[in-house]
Amino acid sequence: MENINELLNRINNDLKNALSEKRYKHSLGVMKKAEELALIYGIDINTAKLTGLAHDIGKEFSDEEMLKYVKENNIQVDNVEAVNVGLLHAKIGADICKKKYNFTIEMQNAIKYHTVGNENMDLLAKIIFVADKTEEGRNYKDEAKNEQLQKVRELSKKNLDEALLYEIDSSLIYTIQKHKLVHTDSILTRNKLLKDGANK
Ligand SMILES: [Fe+2]
Ligand SMILES: [Fe+2]
Repeated sequence: MENINELLNRINNDLKNALSEKRYKHSLGVMKKAEELALIYGIDINTAKLTGLAHDIGKEFSDEEMLKYVKENNIQVDNVEAVNVGLLHAKIGADICKKKYNFTIEMQNAIKYHTVGNENMDLLAKIIFVADKTEEGRNYKDEAKNEQLQKVRELSKKNLDEALLYEIDSSLIYTIQKHKLVHTDSILTRNKLLKDGANK
C-alpha cells in the first residue's frame, strides 16, 4: 500500500468530487470516530482511518448508476438490495476501494458490512459500523432517536458488541415500524452478538 498520508490525501480529494458537502463531512466524522475506537479496542489506526474515510464513496451514485456498476463489475444483488437499491453503496464502495486504493479484504469487508451488518464482522467491521452511526456530526430531530444515539455513543466506549447490538435492535424496531424490508444479515448479526454474550 502507498504511503499512508498520500493515500489519505488521494481518497480525500476523490471524496470531495464524489460527495456532497454534508456527506463529505460525515466521512471525515467517521474517520475521526473510527480512529478513536481503534485506539480503545487496539486495532491499527491507519487501517481504521482509511476505511472510515472511504466507507461511503459510492453513496451518491443514482439508482441507475448503482445498477450499472454492479452489472459491469459482476457484483451480486440480493433480494433486499434489488428493492432498496441504495443499500448497494456498501458493496460498490468496497469494490471501488479494492480497485482504486488496493484496500485489503478486511477493509473491503468492513465497507461491505457497514449498512446492514454481517454475522462474520471482525473488530474493524464493527468499528466502522458503529463509527458510521455515532460520528459527531450525526444528530436527529426526533428526540427518541437522539436518545438512542447517545446511548450507542456511551456504549461504544465500553463495549463494542453491546453498542452494535443496541444499534441493530433500534434500527430493526424502526424498520419494522416503518413497514420496510428487514435485511436478514441484520438479524443474523443480532443473533450472533447475543450468542457471543452481548446483552444490552
Ligand atoms: Fe453508508
Ligand atoms: Fe456513512
